[in-house]
Amino acid sequence: MKDIRVGLLGFGTIGTGTVKVFQENARLIEDRLGARLVLAGIADLDITTDRGVTVEAGILTTRADDLLTSPDIDVIVELIGGYEPARTFVLKAIAQGKHVVTANKALLAVHGEEILAAAAAKGVEVMFEAAVGGGIPVISAIKENLCANGFQSVFGILNGTCNYILTRMTNEDAEFSAVLRDAQAKGYAEADPTFDLEGIDTAHKLAILISLCFGTRISLEQIYTEGIRSVSALDIQFAKQFGYKIKLLAIGKFDGEQIEARVHPTMIPHNYPLADVDGVFNAVRLSGDFVGPVMLSGRGAGMEATASAVMGDVMAIARNILSGARGRTPAMAYRPGTIKTLPIKPMT
Ligand code: HSE
Repeated sequence: MKDIRVGLLGFGTIGTGTVKVFQENARLIEDRLGARLVLAGIADLDITTDRGVTVEAGILTTRADDLLTSPDIDVIVELIGGYEPARTFVLKAIAQGKHVVTANKALLAVHGEEILAAAAAKGVEVMFEAAVGGGIPVISAIKENLCANGFQSVFGILNGTCNYILTRMTNEDAEFSAVLRDAQAKGYAEADPTFDLEGIDTAHKLAILISLCFGTRISLEQIYTEGIRSVSALDIQFAKQFGYKIKLLAIGKFDGEQIEARVHPTMIPHNYPLADVDGVFNAVRLSGDFVGPVMLSGRGAGMEATASAVMGDVMAIARNILSGARGRTPAMAYRPGTIKTLPIKPMT
């Protein structure tokens, strides 16, 4: 039986979840792939903290280069987050001919075109299902299942931390900072929760969705972004009295000429489907010209759901390695030479 060897960069919450899937579902994965996925190395600056999972000491290293340059590793999983050193490591992995799986929305929103062009030139895959919507298979839906459609809109709830905070403030009158601490303890929030609370994490994810759906470049500066810091308990209670819930929405629309891109708290009527998406759950509603509306929802953050998406990508790459097929990476938006620069509506 063939081994597919995987190196993990980053042993935080999602890294730990990924190790758990490797260990707890090893048999199931092996049966489904007809090959063994081997966790060949884990690189992190901190290799001493107890994460509640047991790994062979020999596979831990503080040097990412040990994995990036190892001829024994087929797939690098980047779970460091942020722009650097993640960008440098991912480009190095690609240059070394390794396939890459990443959950890094910030990296892809800003450097996605560069990274995917490098991967296409080298003939390797970069997959990023975990970057948007946690465990929800929204990237696959856009790139594969719905790829015959022209998209008119993509919108939804894309940040688990904000949705968790708003839900608890709505249902329990809970206090903002206490719920934020709880979201951090549960591993939902970013290392710097400012990215969650100010809508930046949602804007990163919206940029990725807009690029994929509409095949265009979009920078973060072109997305009107407002977070939830200014939403008060009183706003939430007033909204509730009038039959609304406040949700942080990401909205992308294409009218055939211009793109509209915005992230802001929105009043949603109680009887609208997105209003029921509570807690750490995310939801994405896509509208395609042939399929019509499609809504996907599920856990949008957290160790397990995100690790599920990461490992789904690792297995997809493993299947391609085994079959010798070139994979699923070339998304319509990013296939070199096809990406457009559509006008973005100025929003205030
Ligand atoms: N901090 C992010 C969230 C993690 O709360 O949605 C998942 O991308």
